[in-house]
Amino acid sequence: MSQVKNICILGGTGFVGRHIVEQLAKQGHRIKIISRHRERHRDLLVLPTVKIVSADIHDPPVLKKQFIGQDTVINLIGILNESGRRTFQKVHVELARKVGEACIMNEVPRLLHMSALKADINGPSKYLRSKGEAEKFLHTVVHDVHVTSFQPSVIFGPEDSFFNRFAKLLRMRPRFAPFPLACAKAKFAPVFVEDVAQAFVRSLDDKRTFAQRYPLCGPTVYTLQELVKYTAAVCGIKKAVLPLGNGPSRLQAMLMGVLPGKPFTVDNFLSATVDSVCEEDFPPVFGINPKAVESVVPLYLGEQSTRKRYSQLRRAARR
Ligand SMILES: NC(=O)c1ccc[n+]([C@@H]2O[C@H](COP(=O)([O-])OP(=O)(O)OC[C@H]3O[C@@H](n4cnc5c(N)ncnc54)[C@H](OP(=O)(O)O)[C@@H]3O)[C@@H](O)[C@H]2O)c1
Repeated sequence: MSQVKNICILGGTGFVGRHIVEQLAKQGHRIKIISRHRERHRDLLVLPTVKIVSADIHDPPVLKKQFIGQDTVINLIGILNESGRRTFQKVHVELARKVGEACIMNEVPRLLHMSALKADINGPSKYLRSKGEAEKFLHTVVHDVHVTSFQPSVIFGPEDSFFNRFAKLLRMRPRFAPFPLACAKAKFAPVFVEDVAQAFVRSLDDKRTFAQRYPLCGPTVYTLQELVKYTAAVCGIKKAVLPLGNGPSRLQAMLMGVLPGKPFTVDNFLSATVDSVCEEDFPPVFGINPKAVESVVPLYLGEQSTRKRYSQLRRAARR
């Protein structure tokens, strides 16, 4: 257990953020989450050392003020799609720069940054390029802060937007209609959200992780088609999956990209042209044996009773 720290988290109300907040709160750290919608996330305030502040993190003076007295900043802000003024450049690149600069100005010694697997300034999609640019800035320009970046493949867990989304789409399809799947051959190594959160927590004080970038993958590589078929099986849905070739996949992305909520866009399609898999096992420095999809997903996608059991297990783990 590390010494109690003041930790400011951007994106602490999101899917991954909530798991990190829970694990840090369990260790007694004083956590300040900055959110656009404080009132929507009041449930997090049951954790005794957590406070939520409403503030505009894109405003540098605001950010600078919020970082005063912090030992660590964690940046989890990210978007999968652009909409209106929420562009990849603003949310990934410019924000990372503002965060890095505000850390320097306040002499915050530690910054944990959430990136994505295959983030690359020359990547095929705007998502991957902007994530790569943000990382590059933090690791090459921000010298006075110990930065660690995390690059997960797709993350799964009870509130994920991967398995849950496919389960919803599969349920929505008419009974005998096959499920048309874009990018069916794209490869992923899904990683469990609590393993990702644990990697953040364990890197806090560990000097070996300073200035490092860590790809994070689960133990098994699957094609998207295998993952969708698995989702159908766990949900008890009998449905044929129809893999789409490159052209129809892009066309589907163009059509779905104009639907409300943009369920699938051309930029998502381009991201899926590189396999989201790791070259090596989960980084040994964290001492984590990453959980398999099969040992967790049925607990939240399966029967109602099983989901209840998962909530009970989580509550027990928190005590
Ligand atoms: N989920 C995955 O499978 C996955 C895989 C690889 C990498 N990642 C990365 O991991 C990070 C966290 O992902 P997540 O799934 O936890 O995301 P999430 O559930 O959408 O949470 C992100 C949080 O960021 C804040 N946020 C979002 N857009 C913002 C904006 N334009 N300006 C200011 N704040 C904004 C929101 O907080 P408020 O509403 O409270 O302001 C939200 O709770 C992201 O950087 C993502 O790219 C995720």
